Amino acid sequence: MPKKVILDVDPGIDDAIVLCYALFDPEVEVVAVTSVGGNVAPQVASRNTQAIMEYLDPPRLPRLGVGSEPDDGLPLDGRYVHGIDGLGGTDLPVAVLRSLHPAEKVICDAVRAAPNEITIIALGPLTNIARAFQRDSEIPRLLRHLVITGGTLDSPGNITPAAEFNIYCDPLSAKQVFQASCIKTLIPLDVTNRVKLTLGDVDQLASDSTKVGHLLRCIIMPAFRAYRQRFGLEGIHVHDMVTYLAALHPQLFAMKSLSGNVETVGELTRGMTVFDRRRIPAWRENMNVAYNIKEEQVLTKIITGLNFSAQCVEE
Ligand code: BDR
Ligand code: CA
Repeated sequence: MPKKVILDVDPGIDDAIVLCYALFDPEVEVVAVTSVGGNVAPQVASRNTQAIMEYLDPPRLPRLGVGSEPDDGLPLDGRYVHGIDGLGGTDLPVAVLRSLHPAEKVICDAVRAAPNEITIIALGPLTNIARAFQRDSEIPRLLRHLVITGGTLDSPGNITPAAEFNIYCDPLSAKQVFQASCIKTLIPLDVTNRVKLTLGDVDQLASDSTKVGHLLRCIIMPAFRAYRQRFGLEGIHVHDMVTYLAALHPQLFAMKSLSGNVETVGELTRGMTVFDRRRIPAWRENMNVAYNIKEEQVLTKIITGLNFSAQCVEE
């Protein structure tokens, strides 16, 4: 039976790659896609999600929901990597931009409709997830699993020395979600940074003449330029794609159970993830955290999965 998932996304190049993969993955049923502010504002994230959906025209259309900004606003965005529109300047058209239900309502309805069956794969700041938990306090208990791209274990941050982008954008929501009583897994930068997609890998992706291959090249190539100019890297990280695979294929990762919390006020450490790793921890364990990854197998899965999607989409 395919796994029922909700994708909470802020497309965002790596989020968009997940949509290309997941919407045709025979192992999952994407019941909803909710957009959240992060790499771009929530309305832009929602527009990008709708544009991708329209372009790919998947066999089953998931419910869509749109989020709103955190109460204190988004402190920044990810356009320096993801381009002016969040998709590398692709400018994908949307025929009719729909006005959508709030993301938290879509999440609550989907979880209530299939109690203990839904895995939420949260690929942006945790604003929508925290709001869903506030709207209906039973939701954490009714979730099967929550898998999150976010935080760091031992590696430095990617937006400040201490913080990873998603958690930094909305640390208060992240703190609430970390404290919620649901089964959760955190995929931090320590492992997502281990997978780098190179130009050689792009050559193995479905050809530019397929719809998926074309879209992937349009969004990925500007990211290569941004990574070269900004980080001096020949290749790009696909953090959210790694998280998606951790949700579906946890055997490709090593995880440990830890007690995690989020710094919400630190002058230098806002958004830092903090774990109680004292010999005798005083905090209760509240999540699994990935600390190792079989990166070659993950990369192979990314390429084969995206090629599979390409075959599924009519030209
Ligand atoms: C996260 O930040 C975003 O820019 C990516 O989409 C990913 O979700 C990695 O830190
Ligand atoms: Ca993301």
